[in-house]
Amino acid sequence: MSRFFSQTLSGLEPYTPGEQPRGIQNLIKLNTNESPFPPSPRVIEAIGAQQVRDLRLYSDPACTDFLAALAEAFGVPRECVFASNGSDESLAFAFRAFCDKGAAFPDVTYGFYPVFAQLFGIRTRVVPLREDWSLAPEDYKGLAETLFLANPNAPTGLALSRAEIEALVTENPERLVVVDEAYVDFGGESCVPLTQKYDNILVVGTFSKSRSLAGARLGYAVGAPSLIADLNAVKFSFNPYNVNRLTLAAGTAAVRDTAYFRECCGKIIEAREETKAALRAMGFAVTESRANFLFAAPPAPCTGTEYFAYLRENGILVRHFGAARTENYVRITIGTSEQMKTLVAVTKCFLEETT
Ligand SMILES: Cc1ncc(COP(=O)(O)O)c(C=O)c1O
Repeated sequence: MSRFFSQTLSGLEPYTPGEQPRGIQNLIKLNTNESPFPPSPRVIEAIGAQQVRDLRLYSDPACTDFLAALAEAFGVPRECVFASNGSDESLAFAFRAFCDKGAAFPDVTYGFYPVFAQLFGIRTRVVPLREDWSLAPEDYKGLAETLFLANPNAPTGLALSRAEIEALVTENPERLVVVDEAYVDFGGESCVPLTQKYDNILVVGTFSKSRSLAGARLGYAVGAPSLIADLNAVKFSFNPYNVNRLTLAAGTAAVRDTAYFRECCGKIIEAREETKAALRAMGFAVTESRANFLFAAPPAPCTGTEYFAYLRENGILVRHFGAARTENYVRITIGTSEQMKTLVAVTKCFLEETT
């Protein structure tokens, strides 16, 4: 730390992203919930020499074409959508804009929530998940803080129904509920329709997972026009050109290719269900994930730490969270069906060698 670093940030514990190895040719990379499939072929068509020549110009600060396409896809008015540099930026803006009464979220959830809260000096209330990793909506009833709920949750993959979220929204109209739908396209129930009924729910989503555009950094928020105006006030006080030209073109093309999107999600869901069944048959504890990953613990006496290390030695990268509550589990991103077959085969060897 330099002597110039703000005292208010001296205790900051930054987010640690999953490993991004430089050469992945010989690795099966199942550690950061990216898509194993390339973006829609329409994205490749949309980015040509003209787009590159146009890079001399700033990007559209209003993200007009992309937001028109997104609003059409969701069936909501244009003034209900907001575009961001990854969904992390929408989440950061929401923490900055809407948390005068603090922020509440589960103990096991997306690791960036406590970091944003710390960065912006926001008081937090951490609500433990139940023993079986489920999020009990009644644990949030009566809380005044803005709620941040990843739905499906990460890394557990468990999801609440839209009706359960709606009950939290209607319970206290003075409290905002931010629903992080990074993984909703893999089997969750989207709360976007609720944004057209209530002004105290904000849905945040990403093009990093189901749209195969993690490297482009594109996220969005959907909510009442008043909430979107607030997000724009923060954005235009920070970086008016928050989404670059190439990404806006890529996102506009991707959101229009519904058939490709459905096909990719379908393949991932199928591979997830097959992998889940295979791991359970080998004695693993695996949650009922509705996301593009599995949260799995090997049978005793094997430990999550050993399993993680064994997979790594065999060229398979997954995510291991060292915290006491999660240390026996690994989070396995769903790759192609071939990659998942390799994972299952390596897992069999692990169990044979370790037990
Ligand atoms: C629950 C959740 N929300 C948000 C994000 C951020 O996604 P991005 O910034 O790539 O849109 C992630 C990334 O893994 C996530 O797991």
